[in-house]
Amino acid sequence: MLTGKHILVGITGGIAAYKAATLVRLLVKKNAEVKVIMTEMAKRFITPLTMATLSKNPVLADFFNPENGEWNSHVDLGLWADAYIIAPATANSVGKMAAGIADNLLLTAYLSAKCPVFVAPAMDLDMYRHPATLGNIETLQSHGDIIIEAESGELASGLEGKGRMAEPETIVACIGSYFEAPFSGLRALVTAGPTYEKIDPVRFISNYSSGKMGYAIAETLAQQGADVILVSGPTHLSPLHPNIRRVNVISASEMYEECMHLFPSCNIAVMCAAVADFTPEKQEENKIKQKTDLTLSLAKTKDIAAELGKIKRDGQILAGFALETDNELNNAREKLQSKNLDFIVLNSLNDTDSGFGIDTNKITIIDSSGEETWFETKPKKDVARDIASHIRQKYGQITDFEL
Ligand code: C5P
Repeated sequence: MLTGKHILVGITGGIAAYKAATLVRLLVKKNAEVKVIMTEMAKRFITPLTMATLSKNPVLADFFNPENGEWNSHVDLGLWADAYIIAPATANSVGKMAAGIADNLLLTAYLSAKCPVFVAPAMDLDMYRHPATLGNIETLQSHGDIIIEAESGELASGLEGKGRMAEPETIVACIGSYFEAPFSGLRALVTAGPTYEKIDPVRFISNYSSGKMGYAIAETLAQQGADVILVSGPTHLSPLHPNIRRVNVISASEMYEECMHLFPSCNIAVMCAAVADFTPEKQEENKIKQKTDLTLSLAKTKDIAAELGKIKRDGQILAGFALETDNELNNAREKLQSKNLDFIVLNSLNDTDSGFGIDTNKITIIDSSGEETWFETKPKKDVARDIASHIRQKYGQITDFEL
């Protein structure tokens, strides 16, 4: 999938620069043509000789060759590359990229790049979680850059936390799946976030869902070529990929209406929203006054996944989630069947690294064939990639399908 692809690797000055050697080696092994740009600081962490030898091309660092005046055109590099991967990307370079500063060849090539840009940040945990860095990363995402998130673990500083550059294998897999674009030409519906069920003008019933898992799935499917419609309950998140159209809803009944309308024209639907199961039978027009007690009468909401399961046509893929506290596998299997899903993603509230609001998840995928696949605890973005791979496998089994 990377054969013959022109990959520009930008290395900035952090200790993770040593991992760029493995990255380049893996890309070359996959038959990509690789050129390397290094910043001045990067050259102190790993030698240009190493990178030139591994990439089989001279390393670029300056705007021109001081010996013969030959110009290293960032515009030509930007046009040459099919993908630009900046790994490691230090807090300094991420900040400059977000601000459009262009004081070295790596940054000018970034601004000139016409191709997808992948950014693999690496820094100390305090720098990584500083609002300035988080804001800069968000700015890059809003420009369409693909962020390959740093991993948690032991850092060069001796501290433990998030900031280690993603492993070279992960970066190569991410670039590879981009070029494969396995979902191109397909339409995917993703639901995310909680719903709010109104009691009166100031109160509602809801749950702790942050929407992070659903947004990560929408992002991954879009990165892999799908046209995504994200039906989202209230969250603080914004979808970033240009191929995602967001439809905002508040209540379970609004989400139901949108999904029933959209699903017939979609190839794939992933029901990730934590839809309220009950809604007040009556919504008060005025704020309910203080009193000694209050009894709310609740009615069952429509089960959106189950309703889509009833109208699902051959060739459409419908996936659901199950967040369980007890009897997890049996409950998930029962939901898989009763909702007519193609697979269900089980996460347990008993796992400390799974559930609402946090950035990691531990899942088991149970397929309609009965097969179970167990995964390690991973960042939600990587979990989204695993789910996308499962959809890809299932979709590969569909031979003849037209909407
Ligand atoms: O039954 P439970 O709520 O645990 O089922 C979870 C799955 O069903 C999730 O995929 C969720 O998005 C979906 N669901 C739904 N509509 C509901 C309740 C759940 O689509 N009213």
